[in-house]
Amino acid sequence: MAIKNITVLGSGIMGHGIAQVSAMAGYKVNLRDIDQKFLNKAMQKIKWSLEKLTEKSKITKMDAEKYINNITPTVDLKTATKEADLIIEAVPEDFNLKKKVYGELEGLSSENTIFASNTSTLPISELSSLTSRPQKFIGIHFFNPPQLMKLVEVIPGIGTDEIVTKELTAFVKSLNKQPVICKKDVSGFIVNRIFIPLVHEALYSLDRDHVSMEIIDSAVKYKLDFPMGIFELADYTGLDVIYKASFEMNLRDKNVLRMHPSVKVLFDKNELGQKTGKGFYTYQGENYERINLTPEKASQYDISSILGVAANNASWLLENEVCTKADLDTALKLGMGMKTEIFELVSKNGTEKLVRHLLELEKCEGDFYKPNDYLRSIV
Ligand SMILES: NC(=O)c1ccc[n+]([C@@H]2O[C@H](COP(=O)([O-])OP(=O)(O)OC[C@H]3O[C@@H](n4cnc5c(N)ncnc54)[C@H](O)[C@@H]3O)[C@@H](O)[C@H]2O)c1
Repeated sequence: MAIKNITVLGSGIMGHGIAQVSAMAGYKVNLRDIDQKFLNKAMQKIKWSLEKLTEKSKITKMDAEKYINNITPTVDLKTATKEADLIIEAVPEDFNLKKKVYGELEGLSSENTIFASNTSTLPISELSSLTSRPQKFIGIHFFNPPQLMKLVEVIPGIGTDEIVTKELTAFVKSLNKQPVICKKDVSGFIVNRIFIPLVHEALYSLDRDHVSMEIIDSAVKYKLDFPMGIFELADYTGLDVIYKASFEMNLRDKNVLRMHPSVKVLFDKNELGQKTGKGFYTYQGENYERINLTPEKASQYDISSILGVAANNASWLLENEVCTKADLDTALKLGMGMKTEIFELVSKNGTEKLVRHLLELEKCEGDFYKPNDYLRSIV
């Protein structure tokens, strides 16, 4: 089926960006929200973004007008979904709300319409069972901001037709994005399964090793080739996003992360990172600020625990055939900005040493650290 008409449900952080990139790829987009004021704000943001692209000569004024005309904002669900070939749902991450939204869609769109959820953490198969079309239901996980982030995880549920996965993958490519297939509907999919547990592990490292956050972050940046430190990245992402994702992931799979209480403490205190001026670090103004991380500070810290947890989860994904190694590397590069492939880092740091370190942690702090069989097999 050729996808021409898209409906995006929810015009917030993700929805307006998804609408914009779809419109820029030539699709006709109905953008739906529950109140006109949200749609006005979303259209304003899209116009601002297109103006920036015009100023930078990336697109012409005529292009910008054409893209805007490709988007119809509406609060009317029936009008929004009537002609949709693909409905992308980007309403807040709340299972009961999503359940209500999928309930409202029943009977409104053609039986051929594909439903795709942009959920970060909810199980695709469970969401699909809320509809009468699990075979035409799929996860399409864009990263924030969708206008800039190249990566999109495509996640078929248990009942998703293979052809739907192919169509959605082709759709993602048509947006000039890079799809990776998360072949199994696992907690955290690919990127969050690696990233979120590291925030908790960095906190345990702090407790265990009595060093400063800057020292751990410097080691993450300079020894693991991350674009920034892990506490810094958590502050940038938002402690609300991290806490909610951790909670949902932990609910589905107890082995994926070792919950550290400080994440909830910060969330409860509304210390959410950059956006509230305080999270792990304190920030001065509204502008984005970088923490002073240096190679010298990095040299003071052995990064084995953090790399070990990342490598263990990466190994789990490969062992369970959730994704190919090529897709894992692409996802970590484009989703987390990792400049070096994870198993290259493992090998550089000494695989045997890393496994020994994990065995030691397993002995002292429990099963969570048990080295994965795949990781042991590459020693
Ligand atoms: N923010 C991120 O970094 C990020 C990244 C990847 C995926 N996601 C996922 O994307 C989804 C949306 O997140 P967000 O950050 O854009 O949320 P958001 O709160 O910024 O936006 C959600 C929008 O949905 C609207 N909405 C509420 N009920 C609705 C309904 N019944 N019909 C249509 N619209 C409705 C809200 O008014 C709001 O404008 C979530 O599932 C989230 O997990 C978020």
